[in-house]
Amino acid sequence: MKKTSAILWQDAQHQVLFEILDLIAQPDAGAEVLRQLHDYSENHFAMEEHYMLAMDYPRTTDHIRSHDQFREEISSLLSLQVDDPEFRAVVSTFLTEWLTRHVLGIDKDLEAFILASDLK
Ligand SMILES: [Fe+2]
Ligand SMILES: [Fe+2]
Repeated sequence: MKKTSAILWQDAQHQVLFEILDLIAQPDAGAEVLRQLHDYSENHFAMEEHYMLAMDYPRTTDHIRSHDQFREEISSLLSLQVDDPEFRAVVSTFLTEWLTRHVLGIDKDLEAFILASDLK
């Protein structure tokens, strides 16, 4: 039987997160895109964390700590209540770089673990 090389929900959700981050950089985006990023990323992190806990994934603590960093960044951004397009562009670049490292690093490790398990 052919083995799947990716987890569809995880890939699709990462794609949406990168799209929202692109949106944040658009001058006419408006402040509510940060709220959208907050809600979507929380949804995504909760799903990954659900799998980690259900599978006894060995790097759960590190991975949740990494998600918590992103959560903290977004919370502090939301509390600033700044609606400046240039500021949002900087935020978008910073968070896109963060997410790229996360997706290519620890998320890949989780993906491999899920694919090797019976829970996929
Ligand atoms: Fe993750
Ligand atoms: Fe992820």
